[in-house]
Parts: sequence; structure tokens; C-alpha cells
Amino acid sequence: MGLPTETVYGLAADAADPEAIARIYAVKGRPTGHPLIVHGASAEMLDGWAAPTSPAFTTLAAACWPGPLTMLVERGPSVLDAITGGRPTVGVRVPAHPLATAVLEALGRPVVAPSANQFGRVSPTDAAHVVADLGDRLDPERDCVLDGGRAAVGVESTIVDLTVDPPQVLRAGAITVAQIEALLELAVADAAGPSRAAGMLAGHYAPSARVVLADDADAARTIAAAASGRARILDRTDDLVTAAHELYADLRAADADGLDVLVVVLPPAAGLGLALRDRLTKAAAGSATDR
Ligand code: TXA
Ligand code: MG
Repeated sequence: MGLPTETVYGLAADAADPEAIARIYAVKGRPTGHPLIVHGASAEMLDGWAAPTSPAFTTLAAACWPGPLTMLVERGPSVLDAITGGRPTVGVRVPAHPLATAVLEALGRPVVAPSANQFGRVSPTDAAHVVADLGDRLDPERDCVLDGGRAAVGVESTIVDLTVDPPQVLRAGAITVAQIEALLELAVADAAGPSRAAGMLAGHYAPSARVVLADDADAARTIAAAASGRARILDRTDDLVTAAHELYADLRAADADGLDVLVVVLPPAAGLGLALRDRLTKAAAGSATDR
């Protein structure tokens, strides 16, 4: 099922059904062994999926859930090997979208939900993106895509690994390192480099247009002027919340509009800017290796 969340749309399957989990990998074209995040309607629904919880887990769950934070913890007895690729840890989160909550409550147990895009491609932030990307791989007899409008945040959840000391942010997102540090009252290793969660590759999130990064607007103009083919400059550095909200739609628009090159001005490397830089760096690497 294509399921709206506040970050991006997920491709959701009953977390207790091995056949449904196998279909997730098949539909996405995702190599097995890349672990999936377990989504619950509440922290209580994740009992048995996450191991008995630590103070850090309890603090972050109370402050950030429902919301765009995934916590990596030791897996509980309910977690199938197919979800974690056999790892001893599991990512868990409680999404903040009324349709996701309604589906989870109706099912009565968690779903696994990777982003609902073909493996390596741009993540979907509205239902039409899911249909465009995966529609012909879904089965009208048993699958559906729920339309919950445009995802409010626009980039995937922050992933914080609580199984290491100190905790480490593996993927930057809308919940920032500074927020996590303030809540836990300790220093947390951040995701200043490329995100490191298992299975994350240098070349994710890539459109077909070549993505080239620029440090500022002047550099972007120079690059665009020298580019061969149709080029566009994308500069949303004045409003990073909007930049995140529009990011994947902007990348998709580059392809829909037949651009050869999209020159993107990088936001500052702090707060939500870290999440944007992570996704953009990968989009640039992925589009460069495509050709
Ligand atoms: O915002 C989100 O998190 C979205 C929405 C749909 O909830 N989901 C999402 O899932 O981004 P996905 O599968 O596209 O990305 C999850 C990332 C993957 O890179 C995966 O390798 C990593 O999280 N991950 C999940 N479980 C893990 C584990 N046990 N150990 C290490 N990395 C893990
Ligand atoms: Mg993804």
C-alpha cells in the first residue's frame, strides 16, 4: 500500500507477513538485506518489536513522536529476519499523518514502510509520485495508494542509532542533531558526512537530469552558463523548510521539464540544511554515475 506520512510516502506492508515483506523488496527493486523501518501508531504498538526500552528511547519518543524520527534499537522478538536483513537492530518510528495512524490502528500492529520509490530513485512526496514510479508494479487486486496530500516535511526521517554510546545520527532529517542533544542532554555524533545507515548508497535520490551542486548563487550562474543542454538553477536557500517540502518535487520537475542539468545552490550545513545537503549530494552522485 502506498501510505502517506509526514516525511515522504511509504510502501507499507504488514510487518508480521513475510510474503508482504518480500513483495516490498520486489516492487521497489531493492536488494534484500537492506533493512526496513517498522512503523507503529504509538510507542506502545512497538512493544515486542523494539527491545525493552532505554531512558534515551523514552525521552525521544515522548518528545518527538508522532514525528519524523526513527530510532535504531535492539530488535524485539516480533521482528522477522526479513525486516532487518538478520541484523540485531531495528529502526522504529511513529509517523505523524492521520491516514497512517488510521491504517495502523485498523491493522492493530506495525507496518514496514520504505520510501515508495524505485530503488535509488527520487522519494515520493505525493500520491501521484507513487503512482508514476510504482503504479505498473502494483497489483490492482490487492494494492492501493492512499492520497494524503503533499507530505508536510518532504525529506525522510532523522535516524538516530541508540545502540551505540554516544548515540549517533545516521541520517539527517527534520529533527536536528541540536534538538536530540538538547533532549538527551549529551553530545551526539552527527551526520555531517553522507548518511551511513545500512544500505544507503552514495547515489540515492537521483533524477535523470544531471544534478550539479554550487556553493552560492554566483557559482550556480557560472555553472549553468557553461552547462551543455538545458540547465536550470534551483536556489531555495532563503527558506529551508520550503526547500525540504519542495525538494523531491523539484527534482522530479527537472525530469518532467526535460532538463539536462539542474544546478542546485547548497544550503548551509546546519539544522535542516544538513538533511538537504545529504540528499542533494547523493542526487548529484547518482545522476553523475547514471551516465
Ligand atoms: O521518513 C522515513 O523514514 C520514510 C517514511 C516512509 O517513513 N521511510 C524511509 O525508509 O525512508 P527507507 O527504507 O527508504 O530508508 C530507511 C533507511 C535505509 O537506508 C535503511 O538501510 C536504514 O534506514 N535502516 C533501517 N533499519 C536499519 C537497521 N536496523 N540498521 C541500519 N540501518 C537501518
Ligand atoms: Mg528510501
